[in-house]
Amino acid sequence: MAGAGLGWWIGARIGHPAPAALLGAAVAVLSLSVLDTLKGHQLLDWLRTPEAEAPKLPGLWGEVAHRIQRVLRQRDLLLADERRRLDQLLSGIQASPNGVLLLNDSDHITWISKVAADHFGLDPNRDLMQRVTNLIRQPAFVQYMQAGDFREPVKCPMPRGGHGYLSVQASRYGEGLKLILSQDITERERADTMRRDFVANVSHEIRTPLTVLSGFIETLASLPLTEAERQRVITLMGQQAERMQGLVADLLTLAQIEGSPRPTSDRWIKVGDLMQRLENDGLGLSCGRHSMTFAVDDLGGKTEIAGVESEWLSAMGNLVSNAVRYTPDGASIDVRWVTMPEGGAEFSVRDGGIGIAPEHIPRLTERFYRVDGSRSRETGGTGLGLSIVKHVVQRHGGELRIASVPGKGSTFTLSVPAARVRVV
Ligand SMILES: Nc1ncnc2c1ncn2[C@@H]1O[C@H](COP(=O)(O)OP(=O)(O)OP(=O)(O)O)[C@@H](O)[C@H]1O
Ligand SMILES: [Mg+2]
Repeated sequence: MAGAGLGWWIGARIGHPAPAALLGAAVAVLSLSVLDTLKGHQLLDWLRTPEAEAPKLPGLWGEVAHRIQRVLRQRDLLLADERRRLDQLLSGIQASPNGVLLLNDSDHITWISKVAADHFGLDPNRDLMQRVTNLIRQPAFVQYMQAGDFREPVKCPMPRGGHGYLSVQASRYGEGLKLILSQDITERERADTMRRDFVANVSHEIRTPLTVLSGFIETLASLPLTEAERQRVITLMGQQAERMQGLVADLLTLAQIEGSPRPTSDRWIKVGDLMQRLENDGLGLSCGRHSMTFAVDDLGGKTEIAGVESEWLSAMGNLVSNAVRYTPDGASIDVRWVTMPEGGAEFSVRDGGIGIAPEHIPRLTERFYRVDGSRSRETGGTGLGLSIVKHVVQRHGGELRIASVPGKGSTFTLSVPAARVRVV
């Protein structure tokens, strides 16, 4: 060994072979320990950045490095697996239609899902570690969080100028941590309001003729009437009963249209026949009070449309009866059918009547909507006609267009899609 050789050489120089051997051994041990320290430092250096390849060391140090590297690799695999599972879990939460907020024990936000960020108008990064009630200031929410009674959810308007409502449910978990779930209930609220309005409207519509009817019944029962008076009362009672029947029939039609599937395209109806029936009904309703025209273009005479005959007839008949009802005597009403050579067709009813102000037009197809309630009621209308028309046309893939100039008249047009029109 080099250290022993060196010791021997020094011993020879000073003329003492025995101390020379001792010295050689000492130098050898010293060199070994220096080498060992160097290897140890190499290992320590590597452990500072264990991602790098382990140093190739001989002997025991090499084995130590190899084992450490194996343990580290196993730990990395475990970590990667945990991270993948956490990512999957978070993606699952992100995919939920409900918003999720996690709070620490002092109500500071520790995690925000994308939906929650959207619901509450939060920024998933910037707003972390902010106190939740500093960011969501809706009084209903703040009160809910402060009261700490989370058995029921709370309803609050969408914060930060959003339209609609959220249902917010908080729950406790872990040690003082909180989970907040948010759900967009705007549609549900709208449906609830519509249902309430609908019931209120139906009740109101039925109450009026019922009150009148019971008044007449009382008159008949308590007053001695002449035959002429009795006849008049019975006629008026008949009118009210008819009004209620009309209302119930319209409601049933609407319910039936809404609940049934889209009509198939295999039942064909002759446009000529439809127009003839509309003409008979229209002329009957007008009793000569209007100048009415019914025109079918050349192609129209040979055209058939697909769908449910009673529904088409009721939709078109509604438009004709509206024109008759809301057009003063003497004015014109023109009913037209045009089959487009490129496909599709249009049915239109144009009247020279009272017209409709622009602000009413988008609302005409709402149930029970009437521009002039008293005029409509006088003529027996319930405000359901155009909502039936719209439903029928949409179910058949077409659309209803309304154009009107107050004081001049209106045009209601039904377009029939090409798929439901054929020329034979
Ligand atoms: N051609 C028209 N000219 C002027 N106003 C019209 C015309 N058609 C409809 N309207 C207005 O639109 C409202 C809604 O019409 P819709 O047909 O839905 O109900 P209605 O005629 O009142 O009742 P119903 O048709 O159920 O018997 C009417 O009350 C009327 O004010
Ligand atoms: Mg009507």
